[in-house]
Amino acid sequence: MNNALQRLLRRETLSVDDWESLIASKDQGLDRELSQIASSLRDSVYGRRVFLRGLIEFSSFCRNDCRYCGLRVSNRNAERYRLSARDILDTCINGYELGFRSFVLQSGEDPYYTDERMTGIIRAVKEACPDAALTISIGERSFESYRAMREAGADRYLLRHETADENHYRILHPEPLSLDNRLQCLRNLKKLGYQTGAGMMVGSPGSSFHTLAEDMVLISSLKPEMVGIGPFIPHHDTPFRDEKKGSVSLTLRMLSLVRILDPHVLLPSTTALGTADDNGQIRGLDAGANVIMPNLTPLSVRSKYLLYDNKKITGDESAENLETLKKDLLRHGYEPSLTRGDCIK
Ligand code: 5AD
Repeated sequence: MNNALQRLLRRETLSVDDWESLIASKDQGLDRELSQIASSLRDSVYGRRVFLRGLIEFSSFCRNDCRYCGLRVSNRNAERYRLSARDILDTCINGYELGFRSFVLQSGEDPYYTDERMTGIIRAVKEACPDAALTISIGERSFESYRAMREAGADRYLLRHETADENHYRILHPEPLSLDNRLQCLRNLKKLGYQTGAGMMVGSPGSSFHTLAEDMVLISSLKPEMVGIGPFIPHHDTPFRDEKKGSVSLTLRMLSLVRILDPHVLLPSTTALGTADDNGQIRGLDAGANVIMPNLTPLSVRSKYLLYDNKKITGDESAENLETLKKDLLRHGYEPSLTRGDCIK
């Protein structure tokens, strides 16, 4: 067995070079070995359950200009929409009636949603769906803002770090965004008691085995409860339109490594993975993931939340499609779960 893997399984702390040797390894059998170990670790903590979280993409406005993202502020072709507090609440209630007990409210960084508006929305959702977990994913905000949302009832927060490498961060994000601030936000979220999600794209322009190794070192020290990982997929109205997309097999390897590093982590098999490969989401589960986020965004606006090209916009929100997803999971040996799906720690 690979030496770094042996030491990882003995719960030793790996160096950047150790991680890089695993991530870059050409060993033919490694991926199979990693996914078997990762799956059995996941099964020992969470069983075969796959947690379903209803995703509501409530605003496509964004003040940032991330070079990879279709919602970047300088993309004049992006169609922008905002859902009202009422529409967000109704969307959650529809999901609740379908059985969902976990929701993710995501948007671009849209200043329209002040702390007052956000806390109002959070309180309303928690009042209507008191036994549901609520995850917020609206980017970088102040400590005070995170505190206000936490006090209003938000349980979790997703903020991918995108890359742990300073130079790579700069390639992806123009000023005033900075890796320092990103990491400060993540530490603030943890301090406030959020179940916190970090994560990165695989194969984004400027990434390498080395930057992915740095991501693993960051994840080891930050210890997030959730890690979102998907392949980079180019968007035609961004500066990265001609870049090549991230590798599916490398994404799967990263999922397995994160699961092995922390068997308790909540690990989504992402939409981007399902976009890059028809069977990507099942393959993600087989590599060690245990979360799927069906899209509940109203169909009238869904096609406008385009982070990357070919993002699938099928109607996950209907009872019928939820049944199809559940059957699919069962057929592959998983147990769909509509519970809150908290991190077991
Ligand atoms: N390809 C893949 N993932 C992307 N994201 C944004 N743009 C892209 C893209 N072109 C991811 C980022 C962000 C999350 C919401 O979507 O990692 O954090």
